Amino acid sequence: MAEMPFVNTDIEDEFIVNATSEINIKKKRKRTTGREIEGNEEKKKKVYQPNYFISLPITNLEITGSIQAVQDAIIKKDQRLSKAMVHSGSLHVTMLVMHLSNEEEISIAVGALSDSKDFVEDLLKGKNVDLSFKGIDHFRNEVGFVKLSENDHTAILTEIAETMKKIFQEKGILAGEGRAFKPHLTFMKLSKSTQLRKQAVTSCLFMRFYGNIH
Ligand code: C5P
Repeated sequence: MAEMPFVNTDIEDEFIVNATSEINIKKKRKRTTGREIEGNEEKKKKVYQPNYFISLPITNLEITGSIQAVQDAIIKKDQRLSKAMVHSGSLHVTMLVMHLSNEEEISIAVGALSDSKDFVEDLLKGKNVDLSFKGIDHFRNEVGFVKLSENDHTAILTEIAETMKKIFQEKGILAGEGRAFKPHLTFMKLSKSTQLRKQAVTSCLFMRFYGNIH
């Protein structure tokens, strides 16, 4: 869970605000007419801000070293982006995001995580999952990440992520983002700096750095 291994990870900018999601729902209610209520109830179920996540820490020195090289090359081109870089100790591949709003839900999620462990062990049968990374991409010109190379191991990783999502959802946890699992390794994100977020500085850089990382 996010608060354990990544207690110092920069998640606050994107994973904050239980209150905000509630405020948004209230605003929508005020604007509704009778006919819209049903639709908004549906949205209320779906709209939430993830505030916890489960991820695999990436600590392999070859990978973290390559990421560092990319980060250095980007900073060399534009010093301002140094603020956007993810620290080596926080590199991870997110498996599942969720919204937990109280102690009870946290405890249910801990149970779901424990159930997931049995499933993962059954699936792996003692084998390792080898992840390799190749190529750079971005989400909305705001998040720079390294892609996972597609192979049998990523298929297993996807199966693990999808099954964990199911296990959490079956216990009533708001888990998953309503989008397909896209394993990636984020190395920079503008959300780490409000100033950078306002400036459109990344898009051309990402295009220049569409290189390979092994
Ligand atoms: O999961 P990770 O910590 O690498 O996510 C970094 C950022 O990328 C987050 O702000 C997340 O919302 C965003 N993201 C995205 N689209 C995805 C996965 C993550 O915009 N499919």
